[in-house]
Amino acid sequence: MPDTYKITIKKFDPSVDIEPTMVTYEVPDDPEFAPMTALKALHHINRFEEPVGYDYNCRRGTCGRCAMMIDGVPKLACLFPLTGSHTFEPLNGFPVIRDLVVNKKEAYAKFVGSNHSVKILEPEGALQPLEYDFWKDVIYPLNACRECMSCYASCQALHNFNRVGTFAGPGALQQIYLRHVDGQDKMNRIEQAAFAGLFECVQCGNCSQVCPSGISCTENIKEMMDKAEAQGLKPVSDKRTAYFPML
Ligand code: SF4
Ligand code: SF4
Ligand code: FES
Repeated sequence: MPDTYKITIKKFDPSVDIEPTMVTYEVPDDPEFAPMTALKALHHINRFEEPVGYDYNCRRGTCGRCAMMIDGVPKLACLFPLTGSHTFEPLNGFPVIRDLVVNKKEAYAKFVGSNHSVKILEPEGALQPLEYDFWKDVIYPLNACRECMSCYASCQALHNFNRVGTFAGPGALQQIYLRHVDGQDKMNRIEQAAFAGLFECVQCGNCSQVCPSGISCTENIKEMMDKAEAQGLKPVSDKRTAYFPML
């Protein structure tokens, strides 16, 4: 491990700055706190150099709040081990509140919009218990979404094809997929996914690659696309035009 790490941060306070500036800091390694993570480097800079805006809570990869672009890829800062020189930037595509803190309000709204994540039971009260192995192997891993928004920050449909207005985004589609595979849910989730912009996805694969919960986001979306097509829900004019892997 190096004695010092070189950390470059994109700093921006929209209330006073006209444009962002890239500021580089030297952060000493501290074997006492090994492994040295991006979050620990931010604590050091904030304490010994100058104030920097960043968000975190759990410090162990469960809350999703410390997600940011590290060397151009969405990562959880608390789980990212430093190796040398790194660049920290706010999550791609979100309005910056200050430095590495972004406003996730609109994307969060898509998670819960139109009952995406609410289980619909029918008829009321006729709840059948789920088999334990099914819950453990299928439902629980899908339920592990940290709402970190890394998938939104990497989504080609949102950023390269500007489908912001018509596409609920990869995270919201995972909530719908979770309910689709949930045997207790009685709503037509494939139809719901189609209305949430399912066919806006260009299948770039980035959401699966960046998801810290290991959710197969792209594959789940493809499964819903195939089912939607079988139900006659595919739009006549298919706007998907290209495949642009970002990562
Ligand atoms: S696979 Fe689809 S939803 Fe996932 S990041 Fe790519 S375009 Fe977005
Ligand atoms: S699906 Fe994965 S990448 Fe997207 S918000 Fe949930 S945990 Fe984060
Ligand atoms: S601080 Fe909670 S995931 Fe990093």
